[in-house]
Amino acid sequence: MQTASAPDPEIEVLFSADQIAARLDSLATTLSGRLPREIVVISLLKGSFMFAADLMRMLHNNGLVCRVEFITISSYGDETTSSGELTISGTVPKDLAGRVVLLIDDILDTGRTLHWTHEKLVAAGAAEIVTCVLLDKPSRRVVPFQADFVGFTIPDRFVVGYGIDYAQRYRELPYIGAMPG
Ligand code: IMP
Ligand code: MG
Repeated sequence: MQTASAPDPEIEVLFSADQIAARLDSLATTLSGRLPREIVVISLLKGSFMFAADLMRMLHNNGLVCRVEFITISSYGDETTSSGELTISGTVPKDLAGRVVLLIDDILDTGRTLHWTHEKLVAAGAAEIVTCVLLDKPSRRVVPFQADFVGFTIPDRFVVGYGIDYAQRYRELPYIGAMPG
């Protein structure tokens, strides 16, 4: 049996698993004070699955009741620069009218993904949409968009780990790191 592996030498660790857990704990406390008891969590796949799973367990510990839905949406293909075109597979969840939605994504980059998704959720009749992203790269914005809650603000680096991929690799890393270059 293998023990926990050392960080991948190619990847520069930006946030350790412990740092992520501590930040999520404080985010969950803030979110719980801001949100009603019953919410609909919408997690954008694939990148936010790990963040959403960990955050939801913490929200539960703070007394929240969550329905969870997913939308698969991507803009990167296998490149490290955004193609600018969003690929949407799957549909916007039903029965959102009058509901408070916590919209979760891994990274707020150009803003296209969250801008598009936010519009769809408004059109679906959500009573309120609160956005929470693990990482924000404000210097990369093309479409104006501000998240209500941000885990960490980072410079323009291509990052991987903790659910986030480069060409479908590295999602399983328990930490967040930057690719070389
Ligand atoms: P936006 O539509 O440009 O804001 O892109 C957001 C999406 O691009 C995120 O949900 C990520 O999936 C992806 N993305 C942005 N930056 C990175 C990165 O550094 N590594 C991996 N994926 C990224
Ligand atoms: Mg994504």
